[in-house]
Amino acid sequence: MAVEKLDPSPITQTKPLVQVDRLKKYYPIAAPFRRAVHFVHAVDDVSFQIRPGHVFGLVGESGCGKTTTGRVLVRLTNPTSGRVLLEEKDIFRLTKLQLVQFRQSVQMMFQDPYESLNPRMTIFDIVSEPLDVNGIGSLREREERIADMLNQVGLTPPQAFLFRFPHELSGGQRQRVAIARALVTNPRFVVADEPTSMLDVSIRTGIMQLLAGLREKLGISYLYITHDLAVARYLCDDIAVMYLGKIVEQAPAEQLLRHPLHPYTRALISAVPVPDPSYQRPPVNIKGGVSRPVDPPPRCRFYERCPLATRRCANEDHPPLVERDRGHWVACYEV
Ligand SMILES: Nc1ncnc2c1ncn2[C@@H]1O[C@H](COP(=O)(O)OP(=O)(O)OP(=O)(O)O)[C@@H](O)[C@H]1O
Ligand code: SF4
Ligand SMILES: [Mg+2]
Repeated sequence: MAVEKLDPSPITQTKPLVQVDRLKKYYPIAAPFRRAVHFVHAVDDVSFQIRPGHVFGLVGESGCGKTTTGRVLVRLTNPTSGRVLLEEKDIFRLTKLQLVQFRQSVQMMFQDPYESLNPRMTIFDIVSEPLDVNGIGSLREREERIADMLNQVGLTPPQAFLFRFPHELSGGQRQRVAIARALVTNPRFVVADEPTSMLDVSIRTGIMQLLAGLREKLGISYLYITHDLAVARYLCDDIAVMYLGKIVEQAPAEQLLRHPLHPYTRALISAVPVPDPSYQRPPVNIKGGVSRPVDPPPRCRFYERCPLATRRCANEDHPPLVERDRGHWVACYEV
């Protein structure tokens, strides 16, 4: 039987490391010197939890709000409303000391290792920067820590890389530097924003294996952002599918891939190979492309593209997330 979600966050057994609670981020659209009257609903009432040591995947097409969610979680941008708790502390109400600890224990990995690494800095300076900014360790300790990090990310021997510049490295090596930089402060939680999407397929696998290995070894929790369900399946424990600022389905990774319920998830998945060749999944066709969520009408965000839409979908508000199976949540009136 379906159980409607009373608390918008799925119930988990272990205490969550990260708890996102009814998060909204609206961007005003204003002509110069005019008051904003329209808003992009980039993230619109999103709740989820990440357990310690788990990887939570956020998947969806371009513009659905993945990066915006990630940026709020690392405090690169403020939410319009809602809360984000790290170890039960509201990350937007931290004391000075707590903020210093937050800056060490939370990091972000970016999509583009070409843009996110300063071309004028050596690899040593790039990886060292988060330690410098946070005043961690003596020069000697930093040197040891950086050499250890380069070893861990497979840039060996470290001496061969320390005093080189980003343009002297390959794309895969640059992404390894970005990973070393994100992990050098020994964070508990990392937002990884499509860190493999700019890489060739052959290099991508190596980086994914590295991320999976480091997660096991260091016990880091990730919010892993990707538009690619195959990548999410490889790395993530749970997957949430976003569509125009809303989570429309969330489940443990295999469950979501094998038994998708939401018509949007089913359409996304029809392109992803399933290991069991006897398993047949009917393809679902969806119309049109993704629009920008500017002042979206108060109905299901997927209505315009949905092959199952009914009159109810047109007349009622966006459907709530409802638990259909243990840990499997879906927001749709018709499935
Ligand atoms: N600073 C901003 N000002 C105005 N609108 C913004 C801003 N940043 C993002 N948006 C809008 O918010 C929506 C969500 O953007 P976001 O970058 O979070 O999506 P995304 O899922 O990460 O997309 P992609 O897969 O292309 O990286 C988009 O419609 C985008 O145009
Ligand atoms: S609620 Fe209606 S429009 Fe929205 S996904 Fe479900 S069937 Fe489609
Ligand atoms: Mg993005």
